[in-house]
Amino acid sequence: MVTDNPDNSEVQTPEEEIQKQQHELVALSRVSAALSGLWELDAILRVALDTMLDVMNGTIGGILLMDEETQSLAYRVHTGLSTRYVEEMQIGPGEGISGRVAESGKAILLEDISADPRVARPDLITTEGLKAFISVPLRAKDAVLGVINIASRTPRRFTTSDLYLLHSMGDQLGVAIEQSRLYERLRKARERYRQLAQQTLVAQEEERRRIARELHDETSQVLSGLALQLQALVDMAEMSGTQDAEFISGLKKVQSLAAQVHGDISKLIADLRPALLDTLGLIPAIRQYAETSLRPLDINVDVETIGVLGYLPPEVEAGLYRWTQGAIGNIAQHSRAKNASIVLEHRDDELLLTVSDDGQGFDVSEITDIEPNGRGRGVFSMKERVGLLGGTCSIDSSPGQGTNVRARVPLSWHDEDGKNKGTGSR
Ligand SMILES: Nc1ncnc2c1ncn2[C@@H]1O[C@H](COP(=O)(O)OP(=O)(O)OP(=O)(O)O)[C@@H](O)[C@H]1O
Ligand SMILES: [Mg+2]
Repeated sequence: MVTDNPDNSEVQTPEEEIQKQQHELVALSRVSAALSGLWELDAILRVALDTMLDVMNGTIGGILLMDEETQSLAYRVHTGLSTRYVEEMQIGPGEGISGRVAESGKAILLEDISADPRVARPDLITTEGLKAFISVPLRAKDAVLGVINIASRTPRRFTTSDLYLLHSMGDQLGVAIEQSRLYERLRKARERYRQLAQQTLVAQEEERRRIARELHDETSQVLSGLALQLQALVDMAEMSGTQDAEFISGLKKVQSLAAQVHGDISKLIADLRPALLDTLGLIPAIRQYAETSLRPLDINVDVETIGVLGYLPPEVEAGLYRWTQGAIGNIAQHSRAKNASIVLEHRDDELLLTVSDDGQGFDVSEITDIEPNGRGRGVFSMKERVGLLGGTCSIDSSPGQGTNVRARVPLSWHDEDGKNKGTGSR
């Protein structure tokens, strides 16, 4: 550490020395307590500067951060300095006192900065009337991220122990800045991922809708016509008294095959994009899906709405419908239940969708990741879907106790007056 004009002249008794150390420890823990739990850079810098000024009994200071691109230092937060000083004090690498501190990673302590030939802007220092000055690097690992300066307009002797204390605080602050930058990067990456996932789901829904439309307008129409025409041929052959039994049975087989494929295609269309979702809305579509999936398995299903379900934006309808498909699919596949129930509850500012069954249940804590065989994919994609609608998804189950899955989605499409833009129930 380079210290100019170190003041080691004070002779202290052991008691004074202990007291001073205690004071420094308290000061350090105050800074770390103030910084803990803060993630936003400006808040971190503000709190750090205020605490350091308080600890040092000072009123003038600021934190300069290094711009990674231009490699220059500029004030990010400050106290007691004029706007002109702060704006004009842009410091290049190795320039002035702060530039030197940043370049060397070593602190500088000055009794009177206005008399120091190394300053970058003597004019600004003189106008500002600064005298005592202490400049400490903010280090994280091996890099210097910036500098903290504390100054005084009246002659004041900063001591070397002030310097050590500020140094330790600078190191703490450096780590906090680094963490906040990492956190910010993580936050941005998450946001990018969320937008991408959202766009993917919208594109997927659109693609499903397009395929469903084409299958309906082309393939399904042709197959239905084919099945009808084959039926007509069977009828004609039977009426004309054809004796060729093999021919008639062959024709019937082809006809029933065409009818079966038509049925399969209709089911596929319904899975891709249930017509009821577009025409009658979420609840009828869910009811139809639940009944056609669970009744054949002898699972009784009850669908209920509580409150008036007003307008739902298409992405909310599609999201909740797909979420429910996941829950119903799991009941069909895994529950061995006798009864299932689906309740959609409209509360003031949220929608609650609950799907429960009285089946064998499972240990939810086992599902921590998507297993190679795909187990867990359903549950995680259900959580993801609801998350993209700004909501949350919870699963409550244990072996022998049945399963209860719940989606909670905020009704954020209220208008500015807080009124629901809904157009009434469907
Ligand atoms: N209603 C339920 N009753 C009993 N077990 C369930 C129920 N829902 C989920 N599970 C259990 O949770 C596991 C994870 O479900 P998830 O939907 O994530 O995967 P999956 O159903 O196995 O696969 P996929 O959904 O891709 O077909 C299931 O394998 C099953 O063991
Ligand atoms: Mg599943």
